[in-house]
Amino acid sequence: MISQVLRDARKYEETAGKAIPEEMRPGFHLSTRIGWMNDPNGFSFYNGEYHLFYQYNPYSSHWDTMHWGHAVSKDLLHWRYLPAALAPDTDYDRDGCFSGSAVTLPDGRQLLLYTGVAKETQPDGGTCDLQRQCIAVGDGMDYEKYAKNPVLDDTDLPKDGSRYDFRDPKIFRKKDGSYGCVVGNCDENRDGRVLLFASEDGFSWRFERILAANHGRFGKMWECPDFFELDGKQVVIVSPQDMLPQGFEYHNGNGTLCLIGECDKETGEFVEEHNQSVDYGIDFYAPQTTLAPDGRRIMIGWMQNWDTCPANSSDQPWFGQMSLPRELSIQDGRLIQKPVREIESLRQNEVRHENITFTDVLRLDGVTGRRVDMEIKLRPGDAENIYRKFAVRFAQNDVYQTSVSFRPYEGIVKVDRKFSGSRRAVIHQRRSQVRTEGGRLTLRIILDRFSAEIFVNDGEHVLTATMYTEQAADGISFFADGQVTMDVVKYDLVSER
Ligand code: FRU
Repeated sequence: MISQVLRDARKYEETAGKAIPEEMRPGFHLSTRIGWMNDPNGFSFYNGEYHLFYQYNPYSSHWDTMHWGHAVSKDLLHWRYLPAALAPDTDYDRDGCFSGSAVTLPDGRQLLLYTGVAKETQPDGGTCDLQRQCIAVGDGMDYEKYAKNPVLDDTDLPKDGSRYDFRDPKIFRKKDGSYGCVVGNCDENRDGRVLLFASEDGFSWRFERILAANHGRFGKMWECPDFFELDGKQVVIVSPQDMLPQGFEYHNGNGTLCLIGECDKETGEFVEEHNQSVDYGIDFYAPQTTLAPDGRRIMIGWMQNWDTCPANSSDQPWFGQMSLPRELSIQDGRLIQKPVREIESLRQNEVRHENITFTDVLRLDGVTGRRVDMEIKLRPGDAENIYRKFAVRFAQNDVYQTSVSFRPYEGIVKVDRKFSGSRRAVIHQRRSQVRTEGGRLTLRIILDRFSAEIFVNDGEHVLTATMYTEQAADGISFFADGQVTMDVVKYDLVSER
């Protein structure tokens, strides 16, 4: 049974989505079919394809009452839209179907676990969003909401838990066939934490424990938690709101946080060993992971951030795209992220320049483009006298440029998209402290029409930024203050079939 609200959304997106020409969209990143997109939801492999749902307002390019958009892909790069999956059409989710996740049931159906939002009137006449966890079950196209929704509400919270900040369930199947889920929450002081729930069948749930708590360290409310095993460690990923900066590790505003640790064998308690940012750039938030059939842990994030959304001009018919899916691993206790290897299938027109030594400004034959996979290996041209600064500039013409620079003495990589078409006074630069020895560094830069994702030292740090630069600005140039030697390999990324 499909509600009128969902039928209307499906009808609208089908016609309005067609009006956006292909070249106005990213080449291989998923963008919203029409209107507005935020968080990835329900990222999963189901019936032979990856499914990716997303926070969705089809009716305008601004956030409003959330639906779930839906797309599928065989290779994580070519996406095909399916009709919207969920609409705010019941009492318990009338003000929005917020973020959630997906799992395959033993009978082959797909279960979606999401946050239903319904505004509650307060004694002073104002309203607050009551947030409860709800289920919809379907076949990969159509989903029916569960008759016993909501399945988790304020009665399942620890005593001091906020019923207005209780959202974004991430479900997973345990080895014994039962289910777990983590949900974002905060206490009376808005201090964030991740709650862990358990279920035998995926439908009826019980509170298990507070899995990880902020204790005032990283921002306030914690949104969009994820919890999984990776390379023998336990990993918690969350997106804290209202962060204060800490050195070069965490920046102000909405951030991303990765906690790596172990679960105590007796008590089940998660014991933190390490914390770090997930992405050190400007536009990345609310990531979610899934397990690929071949065992890879793959993460995808919203390639925007609440703090920088206004960089977008409001006259676009669409707003919101996903990051490139990234393969995760742990090395030396740190989270490592690499572009999914499927991207190599889009590579064409290899251009290679090896052992190029230069100072000042350099352009290289065949090195241009806006959909590009480029690897740069840097070393000093003169080991006795290490260069002071290196930069690569792209999406460049006389007016525009986006740049990634590296200062070996400080060990700082900086992304700067000040000259990338934004007309708003929001953050346009961000820096990250990276590992370097004697001026050596590798950068892998993936450009799509509206974005740059920069993987430093084979994924030790990643910096993501969207760009609004006109497509004609497709120049790439290099800059060195001092003498730099580098190898550059560049491919065009061609996604048209
Ligand atoms: C994170 C978030 C989630 C929420 C959703 C609403 O970006 O705030 O916590 O479920 O967006 O669209």
